Amino acid sequence: MQATARAQPNIALVKYWGKRDTVRNLPAVGSISITLHDLYTQMQVEFDASLDADRLTVNGEQDDGMLPRISHCLDLVAGPQRERASVTSTCNFPVAAGLASSASAFAATACAAAAAAGIETSTSELANLAGRASGSAARSLYGGFAELKNAGDAVEVETIEDPAAWPLRVVIAITKAGPKAVSSGEAMERSRKTSPFYARWVEEQPADLDEARAAIASRDFERLAAIAEHNCLKMHSVMWASRPPIVYWNSATLDCMSAVRELRARGHAVFFTIDAGPQVKAVCLPQAEAAVIEALRGTAGVETIMTSGLGDGAAVVSVT
Ligand code: PMV
Repeated sequence: MQATARAQPNIALVKYWGKRDTVRNLPAVGSISITLHDLYTQMQVEFDASLDADRLTVNGEQDDGMLPRISHCLDLVAGPQRERASVTSTCNFPVAAGLASSASAFAATACAAAAAAGIETSTSELANLAGRASGSAARSLYGGFAELKNAGDAVEVETIEDPAAWPLRVVIAITKAGPKAVSSGEAMERSRKTSPFYARWVEEQPADLDEARAAIASRDFERLAAIAEHNCLKMHSVMWASRPPIVYWNSATLDCMSAVRELRARGHAVFFTIDAGPQVKAVCLPQAEAAVIEALRGTAGVETIMTSGLGDGAAVVSVT
């Protein structure tokens, strides 16, 4: 059986950083994200009894680095006794560079694997399975504004606003494509074990989530901008204070942040957020998008600009 599923990456406005259970990969904090529309990962999973090992190709090239995590995700969905699989991934944006490629990859893998194995599963179960591989992947099963909550032994994700309810735009400035030096999983553990700010980060997260949820419900862009930038900078402060420090930014990252703040000071509705990589995601209202693109394109060190609206959660494309 063969199935193909497609998932879009998501960008957290209130971030997930830190695990409370590394075995089940449960996050230490809740998070709120927006699922994108124009960036995607498509995963084709084919279980094949004639194979003696799993295979993975990403954009046409064999990828043995990512293979163990994909195999583990297939085991979680279809059981360890499953047939070996041939997995083909197509991604239209840079992978492993802080653009949440693992979120879309594992959300699509979980969806495609369940369909290929003929297993009936709920979106919530798929979110938990994908989340075992990458915490943020649980959110890519859901569209629009998604909130992830810790619920005992599992995560619970829900769409709190549909993509069309508040059609924000996202302008992504790629300042350095290519894999990051420290994986987010390793970096989170380092923060938990060594950052003096980690406990405070976890403690303050419920208040940040309340603030962002209220800003989204009232479509209050200024309020969302303030809490999203604060939460992002707080997460990076936790990383910077880890030992050894985790610094994902480069000088272009800082220049993009300044450009976004200058635009906001001039009345454009835009804020930045940055994940485990040097790319800057500028979230804006549609009327600010042209000015944001122009400013980021003109910032030294920006290699490429990508834009996206908000989209739906992961879905099966075909089953044969
Ligand atoms: O899902 P992971 O393990 O790749 O971690 C993602 C962490 C951040 O992107 C930095 C924050 C988030 O909530 O997406």
